[in-house]
Amino acid sequence: FSLELYTTIGLMADEIVSVNEFQVLAKQALPKMYYDFYAGGAEDEHTLKKNVQEFQRIILLPRVLVDVSNIALSTNILGYNISAPIMIAPTAVHKLAHPEGELATARAAAACNTIMILSFSASCSVEEVAASCDAVRFFQLYVYKRREIAINLVQRAEKSGYKAIVLTSDTPRLGRREADIKNKMIVPQLKNLEGLMSAEVASDKGSNLEAYANETFDPSLCWRDIAWLKSITNLPVLIKGILTREDATKAMEVGAAGIIVSNHGGRQLDYTPATISVLEEVVQAVGRKVPVLLDGGVRRGTDVFKALALGAQAVLVGRPVIYGLAAKGEAGVRKVIHMLKDELELTMALAGCPSVKAISRSHVRTDRDRL
Ligand code: FNR
Repeated sequence: FSLELYTTIGLMADEIVSVNEFQVLAKQALPKMYYDFYAGGAEDEHTLKKNVQEFQRIILLPRVLVDVSNIALSTNILGYNISAPIMIAPTAVHKLAHPEGELATARAAAACNTIMILSFSASCSVEEVAASCDAVRFFQLYVYKRREIAINLVQRAEKSGYKAIVLTSDTPRLGRREADIKNKMIVPQLKNLEGLMSAEVASDKGSNLEAYANETFDPSLCWRDIAWLKSITNLPVLIKGILTREDATKAMEVGAAGIIVSNHGGRQLDYTPATISVLEEVVQAVGRKVPVLLDGGVRRGTDVFKALALGAQAVLVGRPVIYGLAAKGEAGVRKVIHMLKDELELTMALAGCPSVKAISRSHVRTDRDRL
């Protein structure tokens, strides 16, 4: 797949055959500043690229002559049945991609019967999103220096039926995203931009992102604060942004209800490992006590299969959802999820796995196996 090639020749929505191609449509549809904000990563974008490339190093080992006349994709996450192990990652300000913003994304999640994790930096309120659809929703939290903002949003999320809190742990400060700096990326003042309300610290000189984040994010947040977070909510708390076995063990000690192996889609610390390359060590440290999810670079059904084979219970998808939203609104998000589901189903059939449970470690070969 060559983004450059397709960008040159152009692409129509009805010509799309894979999730990657939605990126071309999004690039065609969006102002450069917003496209770069969504697509970009930190500094050299090493981790951004690695997230995709490391999936490509993993080889599938199919079993033949298995009855695959019925393939069951459905799975259960924290007690919620979903149609496939593919969820929607929390990503900021969907209204920059489409006027209906998170409402369109949430409706697509409901139509696909999957879980949407609403970003703290969403451009629709937690209540609006809750009222717009009956998808199972989790709420992603950043903790600001003004702790009352977290308390307010967590309690409102709980009241409006969100089922879990996802604490993002990799953002004590904002990663250095050079495209945003160059483009002087400004998050505009949108109604209901709650998590981003301090975007008021707009800068007349350049991008307001870093100024906003450094003014607001609480860099003193640490492991002992998980007890505080658990004390302000009855919802299970998942920790997003774990990349090492040490931190996975700590997350278990503080009573995390789940772990999301994530490097923030390569937008925070550059040169962190691709998530798929550390998944197995995190899964081993967690030892099946709680679900381990993964995000970063999932673009194919085969990627979902590989993550499941290495111990993830499900994956989250970030940018492809935004690209679908930018290209075609709710229908675009639905198509992205459907494409991934269809590809996963075909992969399972061809690999001899009639159910999600049948996908095992012996269905993949990684670099580690070759040592
Ligand atoms: C993100 N991500 C993110 N994570 C989070 O916890 N809160 C947030 O508000 C955001 N915002 C955000 C905006 C944009 C534009 C992107 C691309 C990503 C990270 C996100 O949840 C997820 O970790 C990555 O997007 C996964 O990688 P892929 O699927 O984009 O490769």
